[in-house]
Amino acid sequence: MDEIGNVDYSTKIPNNVGLSEDRQVLRALEAWHPGFVDWWRQMGPDGFQDSQVYLRTAVSVDPKGWAKFDYVRMPDYRWGILLASKEESRKIPFGRHYGEDAWQQVPGEYRAMLRRLVVIQGDTEPASVEQQRHLGKTAPSLYDLRNVFQVNVEEARHLWAMVYLLHKYFGRDGREEAKQLLQRRSGSVDKPRMLGAFNEATPDWLSFHMFTFFTDRDGKMQLESLAQSGFDPLSRTCRFMLTEEAHHMFVGETGIGRTLQRTCEAMRHAGVENPNDIDKVRSLGVIDLPTMQKKLNLHYSLSLDLFGSEVSTNAANAFSCGIKGRFHETKIDDDHKLEHSTYPVLKLVDGRIKRVDEPALTAINMRLRDDYTNDCQRGLDRWNKIIEKSGVAFRLELPHVAFHRQIGEFRDLKVSPGGQVLDNAAWKAGNDKWLPSTADGDFIQSLMKPVTEPGQFATWIAPPRVGIDNKPGDFEYVKVAP
Ligand SMILES: [Fe+2]
Ligand SMILES: [Fe+2]
Repeated sequence: MDEIGNVDYSTKIPNNVGLSEDRQVLRALEAWHPGFVDWWRQMGPDGFQDSQVYLRTAVSVDPKGWAKFDYVRMPDYRWGILLASKEESRKIPFGRHYGEDAWQQVPGEYRAMLRRLVVIQGDTEPASVEQQRHLGKTAPSLYDLRNVFQVNVEEARHLWAMVYLLHKYFGRDGREEAKQLLQRRSGSVDKPRMLGAFNEATPDWLSFHMFTFFTDRDGKMQLESLAQSGFDPLSRTCRFMLTEEAHHMFVGETGIGRTLQRTCEAMRHAGVENPNDIDKVRSLGVIDLPTMQKKLNLHYSLSLDLFGSEVSTNAANAFSCGIKGRFHETKIDDDHKLEHSTYPVLKLVDGRIKRVDEPALTAINMRLRDDYTNDCQRGLDRWNKIIEKSGVAFRLELPHVAFHRQIGEFRDLKVSPGGQVLDNAAWKAGNDKWLPSTADGDFIQSLMKPVTEPGQFATWIAPPRVGIDNKPGDFEYVKVAP
């Protein structure tokens, strides 16, 4: 067996799960493979399939050795099945099975619930590749071009991760679900992806960076709670996916940070003091800060919908059964069963939004969403530091969680970013101030001119402080012509 680190590259599908001794699953995955390649060709990045891209590939799952950088054509990327190392005698860390041995097989009574969670997670992975497929043509630099491709190949690997679980643990219906993961399409009318935010378009690079900051961060929270699962193979899969996910959020956070930096620099340079003088700021070829705030409002609110209803018996069940835990479950100081505790949930009471104590079990989604909001806020604090340092008087803020929602407690309400419940007229009047308008979208689109000269960047975004893999500023991250 030809092994690099602990990943077996001798089979067509690199893996550290002993596929060469698991003939049945190997055959099922090999049968699924051609459909995956077809999907990648059809729905993966538009163009650039013959370009050499400087990508990292996992060659081992241990913390030091998993990222190896080299030029590779995207269709030749070694999508593999990689699980974090097994923790000996791991115990289920929450729910009514608390303290029992983690399951190495799917418990029969939880099979349907587990399969559904794996399918929902699996569906988001190819969806984001589909949403981002046109971005290559307008990349602001080769550095950014490489980053979107890195995110794309890794999301495709996450699809492999979920498809492995389906094939290995869910028999015939798992194979059927795996097939359907290649058939749904983001934004399709007849066969859409399962979750709303994954059917929205990602029309420009600002949307992409907002998406990787806000929506990939929802992914992180979901993976963190599944990483706690009593079903050990799911836990191990998610733990490794989280190491890749961190890079996606880095791309989003630094992408927005560089955009803010460039806007503020241009304003200072041109002596524009008022951040709300939108026409003047836009004439500098950069994105004005109020538009950044509107994009943030949109992507944050769409991502909040991914957490589902604040109060949910499904979430309570998944927790009680030991299938899906809380963020940092093992670090929380409580009984991990929650049968007698409460959690404050935001609700509409007599026309006002208030916190009301609910049984903690049914409030699991609300709690995860709160953890998400705190995580987002830390990113915003770092963005605000960039603005503050430049001397421009402007602050980005997360809108109220009731703003612009389609799912949960606030879905039928009109609420301002400040948290005020509004009538229709007031909502209509404020709409263009709070969410990107068609004109805003057109302006952003007008800046999306591709830059393919090594070391050069579009007008609207600053270069990164450090290169990927510590490469110098003029490194050719993508050799566009094969
Ligand atoms: Fe992912
Ligand atoms: Fe991601």
